[in-house]
Amino acid sequence: MAESPTDKITIPVLLARKTVGPRIVCLTAYDHPTAKILDESGVDLILVGDSLGMVVLGYENTVPVTMDEMIHHTRAVTRAVKRALVVGDMPYFSFHLSADETVRNASRFLKEGGAAAVKIEGASKKRLKLVEAMVEAEIPVMGHVGLTPQSIHHLGRFRVRGTAVEGALRIIEGAKDLERAGAFAVVLESVPNEVGAEVTDSVSIPTIGIGAGPACDGQVLVLHDMLGFAAGYQPRFVRKYADIHGVISGAVQAYAADVRDGRFPDDATSYHLKPEVAVDLASRQGPAPKRRARR
Ligand code: KIV
Repeated sequence: MAESPTDKITIPVLLARKTVGPRIVCLTAYDHPTAKILDESGVDLILVGDSLGMVVLGYENTVPVTMDEMIHHTRAVTRAVKRALVVGDMPYFSFHLSADETVRNASRFLKEGGAAAVKIEGASKKRLKLVEAMVEAEIPVMGHVGLTPQSIHHLGRFRVRGTAVEGALRIIEGAKDLERAGAFAVVLESVPNEVGAEVTDSVSIPTIGIGAGPACDGQVLVLHDMLGFAAGYQPRFVRKYADIHGVISGAVQAYAADVRDGRFPDDATSYHLKPEVAVDLASRQGPAPKRRARR
């Protein structure tokens, strides 16, 4: 049956998009009001990414983000979302010790966070076993290959991956392995367009690209990057659709000037006593005290 624009997005709906389209629209969100706007705007997939650490919590990278922080923000997002599928991102060290601990942590995204799936970085042999264990526990899993930001200390800096044949093959094989392990989709981050296209043709699950070219079955961006929240450096793959930094800064400066110059609050933003109550109050107060001189 054809998908209608109001249909709840489920994993079968996303899988069908691979063949019948349209492309999957994914953005990150970390709080209730923005998740509500994204959902009402027709975003299909909302990722509560561990990018939370960098764009909201002020960490230098994603490594310090904890499970409790992720669950807290996932709950805020899922309380707002009616249509989109919400995916919670497994933070660093939530899946590094054992399969049991990985499944327990992943289950928290579903049971406490209200998410429908989790995302996990990497496609090593050990990682694939974890994906199998989560899928076996009825936890839908999205993979993530190419640039995996949790490996920052290994990589030294964030840069495009798979630019030489060996690296490109590793990414293509990694995506295929994730599909075999039961992942329902795979994020491809910072890889050449040709690698994005090759992976997309090689797997029957949707590919969600971020700096992976137009051939992917869907696209994701970090919301704060595409809205222009931060004034500094942005990766090449970001397109800025708004200047929220400028909007907020302009509004705050206008507010500050109004407060300092006494233009806010005005009559329209104030409460008043009824005239008879004001007279009665004044009569019971005795002579009015001298008003403090305004600076
Ligand atoms: O944490 C995140 O926001 C992500 C996206 C960049 C895919 O993993």
